[in-house]
Amino acid sequence: MTQLTIEGMAVFCKRKGFVYQNSEIYGGLAGFWDFGHLGVELKNNIKYNWWNFHVRQREDIVGIDGSIVTNPKVWKASGHAENFTDALLDCKKCGKRYRADHLLEDELKKEFNAVTLESIKEMIKKHKIKCPKCKSDFSEPKVFNLMFTTNVGPIEEESAKAYLRPETAQLIFTDFKLVAENARMKLPFGIAQIGKAFRNEISPRDFLFRCREFEQMEIEYFVHPDKTGKCPFIKEVLEHELFIYSDEMQEKNKKEKKMKVKEALKKNIIKTEWHAYWLAVEHKWFTGLGAEADNFRIRQHLKEEKSHYALDTWDLEYKFPFGWKELQGMANRTDFDLKQHMEHSKQDLSLFDEESKKKVVPHVVAEPSQGVERAFLVFMFDAYNEDKERGNVVLKLHPKLAPIKAAVFPLVNKPELIEKSREIFDELKKEFNCAYDKSGSVGRRYARNDELGTPFCVTVDFESLDDDSVTLRNRDDTKQIRVKIENLKETMRKLVNQDIEFENAGKLVK
Ligand code: GLY
Repeated sequence: MTQLTIEGMAVFCKRKGFVYQNSEIYGGLAGFWDFGHLGVELKNNIKYNWWNFHVRQREDIVGIDGSIVTNPKVWKASGHAENFTDALLDCKKCGKRYRADHLLEDELKKEFNAVTLESIKEMIKKHKIKCPKCKSDFSEPKVFNLMFTTNVGPIEEESAKAYLRPETAQLIFTDFKLVAENARMKLPFGIAQIGKAFRNEISPRDFLFRCREFEQMEIEYFVHPDKTGKCPFIKEVLEHELFIYSDEMQEKNKKEKKMKVKEALKKNIIKTEWHAYWLAVEHKWFTGLGAEADNFRIRQHLKEEKSHYALDTWDLEYKFPFGWKELQGMANRTDFDLKQHMEHSKQDLSLFDEESKKKVVPHVVAEPSQGVERAFLVFMFDAYNEDKERGNVVLKLHPKLAPIKAAVFPLVNKPELIEKSREIFDELKKEFNCAYDKSGSVGRRYARNDELGTPFCVTVDFESLDDDSVTLRNRDDTKQIRVKIENLKETMRKLVNQDIEFENAGKLVK
């Protein structure tokens, strides 16, 4: 695998039509990005595959699509109005503002996962840290709420002030009772949502990694409060292997260790089966879509690092070129959110438990929650390969994620080949996102499609006119097979779903 920097990835994404800086013609706006013609396809494929895997293919999870602006009381009840903050530092002289943990990270070349105002003050003093821009001192560190505000209705008065949601999770809690009753869900069950979220990051950085507007794919998974110990699905993941980095390993400066889920549970490193189950499932989601298993680890939050609502939190992390970074924060939120909303709304959000004939407030044992943009980066980094032999980039995206599934082309620009190719293209296009490509040599067309991540190229040659077959070329190993045109769609279906090995999908061309 070729290791590209995050800046290199941003350049590649722009050049190939995946991602553009938002409003670039006006100088852009930090933390906001636009997805280009290929980026939108990849992003949609990520979301579609996430929804399929987590919602459609399961009985115990249903979805919602909540609004972005909601009654501001939601954020008071959830604690975000008070606690959803980062520490910032202002330069006394030039006024430049820094996110404190990022500044410390840059200056001391060490990761800071949890910093209090007190510890920031101490470190600034001890290491004599000054403003990197003008070398002056900082004023006292202070906290900054990350929620964007807006006004609802035409009157800009305090009562009309609302927030853009900083997470999709709260909509799941506020709709919880309606969903549970109308979808007739029985505990344990989950509610999923994909949607935009907004955080007014002090220092957005690392391309798509830390943006101010992003999209989340979230599940809140609800369990009977007396049954939080046992997960009925745990057998599915006991043999699954993961790199594990517990709070103890971090405190003792040890490295992450690969182990099976069953071992981590036995040694009480992961405390609950539910947490272990969801961490493994999420890792499997990534690897099932082609990501390299060993580029991930799960890291337990240190005590001082946990969110205000969480009992225990593990992050699924990925080894980016700029270090191990969080993809998913998986908190055990207990009954914190439902209880808060019950208290603030004065509504009963409990469910009637048939077994005990009592009302119960379910616990959220895990919250598989992740940003679409971060998943986008993972799949792009894992797919990116500079192939020395071919002399071009090969973007080895899983066919399910690839923006274009096949490029169809006539071997040469002759009317009869063009006509046949257009027929095939029009037919394939009904089911797959395809491209028709007739410019340049075949080699050039292969290279162009390798770089866009197109897994298959379909070439129509003179023989096709006689034998009603085409040549299918595999992006990853350049192998070629001959396939009957009448079987092409079915073959493509199997290849995209990886239900068949490429070599077995047709007659291998030597
Ligand atoms: N709901 C968890 C998060 O936004 O990270």
